[in-house]
Amino acid sequence: MNKITAAITAVGAYVPDFVLTNKILETMVDTNDEWITSRTGIKERRLLKKEGAGTSYLAIKAAQDLIKKRNLDPKEIDAVIVATITPDVLVAATAVYVASEIGAENAFAYDLNAACSGFLYGMTTATALIESGRFKKILLIGADKMSSIIDYEDRSTSIIFGDGAGAVLFEPNTEGLGFIDQYLRGDGAGREALQIKAGGSILPPSVETVKTKDHFVQQDGKMVFKNAVSRMAEVSEVIMQRNNLSHDDVNWLVAHQANKRIIDATSNRMGIADEKVLMNIQRYGNTTSATLPLLLSDFESKLKKGDNIVFAAFGGGFTWGSIYLKWAYNTEHKN
Ligand code: UT7
Repeated sequence: MNKITAAITAVGAYVPDFVLTNKILETMVDTNDEWITSRTGIKERRLLKKEGAGTSYLAIKAAQDLIKKRNLDPKEIDAVIVATITPDVLVAATAVYVASEIGAENAFAYDLNAACSGFLYGMTTATALIESGRFKKILLIGADKMSSIIDYEDRSTSIIFGDGAGAVLFEPNTEGLGFIDQYLRGDGAGREALQIKAGGSILPPSVETVKTKDHFVQQDGKMVFKNAVSRMAEVSEVIMQRNNLSHDDVNWLVAHQANKRIIDATSNRMGIADEKVLMNIQRYGNTTSATLPLLLSDFESKLKKGDNIVFAAFGGGFTWGSIYLKWAYNTEHKN
C-alpha cells in the first residue's frame, strides 16, 4: 500500500468589509502613504467592525466558504484546529465554538497559538493527524482579529496589522501529493521583541495595565525584521536542500505577509523569481494566522496539481519555519 500523505483538498477565506486605507491612517497617527508603502508594501487592511463579533466570526465565515465550495458535509470533519492569537475569550477555545457553529458535530476541536507561525505549525499538526491513519478530514483555520489588540495611536503596529481568516481541509492522499517535509523552529529569547505584556498569568489585568496600554501588541520592529529576514531564508534553504529542490523546481513561495521587504529578502536568498512569490500584503496587511490560507485562497486558480510549494513564516516567540507541500488539485476540476 502506498504511504498516506496529507493533502490540502479545499480552501476558503473571509475578510471583513471595512477597509482601513493608508490615507485614513494618516488622519489617525503621524504617518503617510508613501512611508507605509515603501517600507512595508501595505496599502490597506480589513477591519472587523461588527459589534460583539470576535475571531470566531471570521473563522466561521472562512470555514463556511470552504464547506460550500467543496460541497462538504461538516459531520464528516474529524477535527477543527483554529490557529489564532486573538481567541474570542481566554477560556474556552474558539475552535470548539466554531466547530459547533459550522455543524462539525463529530469533531474534536482546539486552538493553537504560535503567533504569526500558527498556521504553519497547524499544517504540521493537521498532517500528523492524517498520517496517523486515524483521521480523514482535518479542518485547519487561521483567523485573527488583530484590530482587537492594536493601539491605533501606535504607528509602529497600527500600519501593519489587519483582520482576516482562511481555512484549508487536509485529507489522506496516496499519490504522493500533499505535505512532504517541514522544518519548524522556536527561540524563546525573542519573546520580549513582540508581545502583549499584560492579561496573562505574569501580569493579570488591572487598572494600571489598562492605563499603561499593556494589553496591546508591542514590538521592537527592527529586531523582529532582522530575525525574520535571516531565519525565514535559512529554514527555506534547508527545506530546498534536503528535498533537492532547485529554485526552478519551486513553483510557488507562500510566505507570511508581514512586510514586503521581508518577503523579497527571503525570495532573493532562495533565488525564487518574483512571479512565483504569492503576495497580497498590499490589500490585507499582516493578518497573523490568516496570511498563508488567504494567499492560497486568492491564488487558488493558479495552483496546479503537482506544483511544488514552499511555505515560510516567522513570528512572535520567536517561532518560524518552512514546509514543502505538493499541491493536490486543479481548481477547474473541482466544484
Ligand atoms: O509577523 C511578525 C510581525 N511583525 C513584523 O514582521 C514587523 C517587522 N518589522 C517591520 O516590518 C519594520 O521594522 C517596521 C515596518 C515596523 C518599521 O520599519 P523600519 O524600516 O524598521 O523603520 P524604523 O522603525 O527603523 O524607523 C525609520 C524611520 C524613523 O525615523 P528617523 O528616526 O529615521 O527619523 C521612524 O521614526 O521611520 C520613522 N517611522 C515612521 N514614519 C512614518 C517609523 N514608523 C513610521 C510610520 N510612519 N508608521
